[in-house]
Amino acid sequence: MHATMPAMNILQNSRFLDALRRQPVDRTPVWMMRQAGRYLPEYRKLRAKVPDFLTFCKNTDLAAEVTVQPIDRFSTLDAAIVFSDILTIPAAMGMDLQFVKGEGPQFNDPIRSFADVDRLNSSVAIDNLDYVFAAVKKSKQALNNRVPLIGFAGSPWTVACYMVEGHGSKTFQTIKAMLYKDPDILHALLAKLADCTADYLNQQIKAGANALMLFDTWGGVLSEPAYLEFSLQYMNKIIAKLNRQNTPVILFTKNGGAWLEHMLNSGADALGLDWTVNIQKARERVGRKVALQGNLDPLVLFGSPEKVQTEVKRILSDFGEHPGHVFNLGHGILPQTPIENVEAMLEVVASYSYA
Ligand code: CP3
Repeated sequence: MHATMPAMNILQNSRFLDALRRQPVDRTPVWMMRQAGRYLPEYRKLRAKVPDFLTFCKNTDLAAEVTVQPIDRFSTLDAAIVFSDILTIPAAMGMDLQFVKGEGPQFNDPIRSFADVDRLNSSVAIDNLDYVFAAVKKSKQALNNRVPLIGFAGSPWTVACYMVEGHGSKTFQTIKAMLYKDPDILHALLAKLADCTADYLNQQIKAGANALMLFDTWGGVLSEPAYLEFSLQYMNKIIAKLNRQNTPVILFTKNGGAWLEHMLNSGADALGLDWTVNIQKARERVGRKVALQGNLDPLVLFGSPEKVQTEVKRILSDFGEHPGHVFNLGHGILPQTPIENVEAMLEVVASYSYA
């Protein structure tokens, strides 16, 4: 008489995962890079309770709450992304990371030598990252299967940029000098990061992440051969090591539009595009091999609602009525973004008709 309990983990909205797999969908799915963040008053309110950003991330109840905030506010969003950061890995390896107000992340002990690479403790890193896996689990519970949850990591190159420079940079002089002068040090660092990142992402899958994204924010500052050797090679290695079963992977190199053909062989299911690329031409270049995610300039959201709508329609019509588009911004949403423009954007995506 006792019927088997129905599976409790069926997603109510799988549009995002379907589009990543290039399956047909009822409308183009949409989410926003950095959708949980400072443009939302409800985020700022919670964030104000904890002065230090990493302490905030380590409070897994707060992290889960912030993950869900944009889903509660915007009913059209088709995915959540776990609230964390790409610099959790170097912090977990023992580096001294501070988020300085107005200046972004800072490492007081940047990596400059083989000895510095050796002192990064990769054996404790995964244990120190338990809070991220707990945040994934709690976010999944809080989402209650309304939408899929994205887990993520930075690309080894992008994370190394902060570890070697010690902070954000405009010229990347220190890490590029290392790349040309002491490439073996950089390769040792990138290999260590790639190993840890693969474990990190596998643990996020185990904790319940439904899709994964690699953020290669700074790959686009490299020459083509340097990109292949120092960024893409390590992302390929990570993707090859994932126990992904059915978990789609998105690879995003900001300013990487010239290299889509190289990224096609990464094993990723989808490529993220920034706004410098025409999405129709990108689709023609990648063929049926991968889905595409993008690519509204986040600064369009500072225009009029009408301008927002025109630009969103242009992207949807450029991609056309084909399988495999996830609408997104071409980079993270900015803190000063007017929320009514986010609403205008989501409204067009949800109601767009290709007829
Ligand atoms: O909503 C989401 O996207 C989830 C959370 C998320 C954060 N950072 C939270 C965060 C994600 C996916 C990231 C990725 C990240 N972090 C990247 C790659 C994507 C990108 O935007 O290029 C990079 C380069 C970082 C490193 C980082 N973290 C910087 C440069 C900064 C300071 C500048 C800034 O944007 O504030 C952070 C801090 C950070 N990470 C904040 C948030 C919400 C702001 C901290 C605060 O609220 O005080």
